[in-house]
Formats: sequence, structure tokens, C-alpha cells
Amino acid sequence: MNLAIFASGNGTNFEAIIKAIEDGSIHNATIKLLIVDHKDAYAITRAKNHQIPYEVVLLKNFASKKEYEEHILSLLKQNEVDLICLAGYMKIVTDVLLDAYPNKIINIHPALLPSFKGAHGIQDAFDYGCKVFGVTIHYVSAELDGGKIIAQKAFEYYGSDVDELESKIHAVEHELYPNTIEKLIKEEL
Ligand code: GAR
Repeated sequence: MNLAIFASGNGTNFEAIIKAIEDGSIHNATIKLLIVDHKDAYAITRAKNHQIPYEVVLLKNFASKKEYEEHILSLLKQNEVDLICLAGYMKIVTDVLLDAYPNKIINIHPALLPSFKGAHGIQDAFDYGCKVFGVTIHYVSAELDGGKIIAQKAFEYYGSDVDELESKIHAVEHELYPNTIEKLIKEEL
């Protein structure tokens, strides 16, 4: 199974997937390519550290989102990518990629979808006063953080420290995403 990871920033989930492949928790998978949409994304450094090929693709260099995604699609085809894992990729995916990879694009979100969609899921759930938090892995659709849910993990948090909460959520992410990818590859989901 050839994977592509899409990231926009830090890339800790990308790193968790790399580690899971390296330590054998994910079998029969290779990360063929990292796609980043920001030239200063720290995920690039992680790719370099692990000798993983990466491409910086900037929307502003294309006439339209369609052309931007067509370029990405050509990179995915060249690399014979089977499964796309969004890992902190902060753009809506459109039909160019969705039609080319039906049910083969997945995303991680730091909240229990369908609640708290968007770029601030942790803070939004915290501000709402939630006491149960969690992480969702889902198929990607044209809707922001939409698409059928594949896996979720929830936990209770009664504290008042959003940084502590964020650390707990990321720890859950770094376990749930690799585990879910492994199950998808083994067709257990
Ligand atoms: C993760 O918490 C991921 O769930 C979130 O962005 C973060 C990326 O962190 N994604 C979303 O909010 C999607 N709506 P990372 O770059 O360290 O993996």
C-alpha cells in the first residue's frame, strides 16, 4: 500500500505514522510522498529527517484550486499512491482528488465529529464546557470535516488547562491514526 500524507504545519501525526511503519505497527505500507501546502511547514523537516520525498505545492502558484489539485493528482499518480492520509492539512479537498480517490482519502480531526468541525476543534469543545473529548478518523468528503466516520476514541477530562487537554488529544491522535491505517490496510474496517 502506497501512502501519501498531506500536511500544513507541525506534522506530529505524520511523524506518528512514520514511526508506526518503522516499528512494524503498520504493515505493508510505504509513505511515497508528503504533500505540504506551506513552505515553512515543520512537517518538511520531519520528511527530510526520515528521507521521505516531499513536494511543496502552493495554491497561489496556480490559476485555480482545480489546477492546484490536478498538479497534486499528477504527483500522486507518478508515485502510484493508493491511500491519502490528511494529517493537519487545512484545506477542503475538492472533486479532482475525491473522484480520483473514492473512499481512499482519510482525515484526522481532534474532536468527536460531527461536533466541533473546523480548525479549532479542541478550543471550541473546551470553551463549550465539554467533559468528554476525543479524536475522529473519517473518510473525506467535499464538506469541511464531513464524510463517514471510520474510528473514534473518547475520554473524559474535567480539568481546566486547555494545554493539558491538547496534549491528551494529541497523544490519542498519535495512537488512533496509525492503528486505523493498519486496520484499513488489513481491511478490518
Ligand atoms: C491535529 O490535531 C489534527 O487533528 C488537526 O490538526 C492537527 C495537526 O497537527 N486537524 C484538524 O483540525 C482538521 N480539521 P500535526 O500537524 O501535528 O499533525
